[in-house]
Amino acid sequence: MKIRLFLTVAVIISATVTADYVRPLPRKTLQFPWNPKSPSYPQQVHISLAGDKHMRVTWITDAKSSPSMVEYGKLPGQYDNFAEGESTSYSYLLYSSGKIHHTVIGPLEDNTVYFYRCGGQGPEFQLKTPPAQLPITFAVAGDLGQTGWTKSTLDHIDQCKYDVHLLPGDLSYADYIQRRWDTFGELVQPLASARPWMVTQGNHEKEIIPFLKDGFESYNARWKMPFEESGSSSNLYYSFDVAGAHIIMLGSYEDYDEYSEQYRWLKGDLSKVDRKRTPWLMVLFHVPWYNSNKAHQGEGDDMMAAIEPLFYAASVDLVLAGHVHAYERSKRVYNRRSDRCGAVHITIGDGGNREGLATKYVNPQPAWSVFREASFGHGELKIVNTTHAFWSWHRNDDDEPVKSDDFWITSLVSSGCVAQKKNELDNILMTP
Ligand SMILES: [Fe+2]
Repeated sequence: MKIRLFLTVAVIISATVTADYVRPLPRKTLQFPWNPKSPSYPQQVHISLAGDKHMRVTWITDAKSSPSMVEYGKLPGQYDNFAEGESTSYSYLLYSSGKIHHTVIGPLEDNTVYFYRCGGQGPEFQLKTPPAQLPITFAVAGDLGQTGWTKSTLDHIDQCKYDVHLLPGDLSYADYIQRRWDTFGELVQPLASARPWMVTQGNHEKEIIPFLKDGFESYNARWKMPFEESGSSSNLYYSFDVAGAHIIMLGSYEDYDEYSEQYRWLKGDLSKVDRKRTPWLMVLFHVPWYNSNKAHQGEGDDMMAAIEPLFYAASVDLVLAGHVHAYERSKRVYNRRSDRCGAVHITIGDGGNREGLATKYVNPQPAWSVFREASFGHGELKIVNTTHAFWSWHRNDDDEPVKSDDFWITSLVSSGCVAQKKNELDNILMTP
């Protein structure tokens, strides 16, 4: 009897120990030693999708005279094509940015490696364009910052075979110190110069100074996204098509009520979505609507009240948010209830920033919440075909990427919800 009791206790203790993941300690902000370059040397190179078969190349030079020119071709060192772009710069209190170049290249072939050089000098970079058709793989990580954990997350993403990086807000954690935007650009360049980074903004991009700065000035200057290409008048909300997915990026801090410019644009954008061509509909924004972490609890409620009915009518498959420094995945939900025609909501604000993790949860776990954990990591979404996609979340377990949550998601096209709700959507979209 005593032996049986001892064994039972031992089993319970061992189960508790293995089930309770012991989180590693936070890591420090990375140090970026001063590394002087020639004034026209291209720095902080990153790329983003810019309309069908086009890519925007962004880089910064200290020299204002450096040309906004990109040479590119399919063989190393042989640049058969070139494009001229535009440039901008900004001042922020005592800081003056370098010359920020934005140059759109293309038309480019799908799923093809290109070699390119910025401004006629410096190193050769290599990019791969996304495929025209499914399958396609996305890497997802929000709230990155620039700490040792950010580096770990980026290293793990680099090990994954992916086509496009999606970032639901909070990039550099510059927080008014503009030099941090430059070090962030330097940190992400190896990845962001090779695959398109499609980003939306978070609270750490605001950098508002009353009467002096309206907000998002550095973000807009440095991370120009294809808003013009998608009929938007603001870099803070836009959309794009890639392979079989239509992806909408919204601004959590822009007006979103039904009379707002963002809402009006969103309705117009949804009216153009053709689910035969892009069967998957995804949305990213910063502040999550479905969040059972105590951090930022309820912050997304107003936006959810304004926009969720529209998303529901439009049969949005998947919503990716950040802001909360933890990971959480919902069932298909609408109006806080499980609903087979609602979206799956994923919070993935656990990229590794200096503020650390949000470890306290609301209990009991709401019925809509399937999986929640406060650990740094990244997500991967492989859309396999019109009907199925595979999502996985990879925790930074010390320095290993450990798959900690995964599931198959079935599209709302294949479950009949899109066809079922067509009239409802048309009615909403026709309302002025
Ligand atoms: Fe945030």
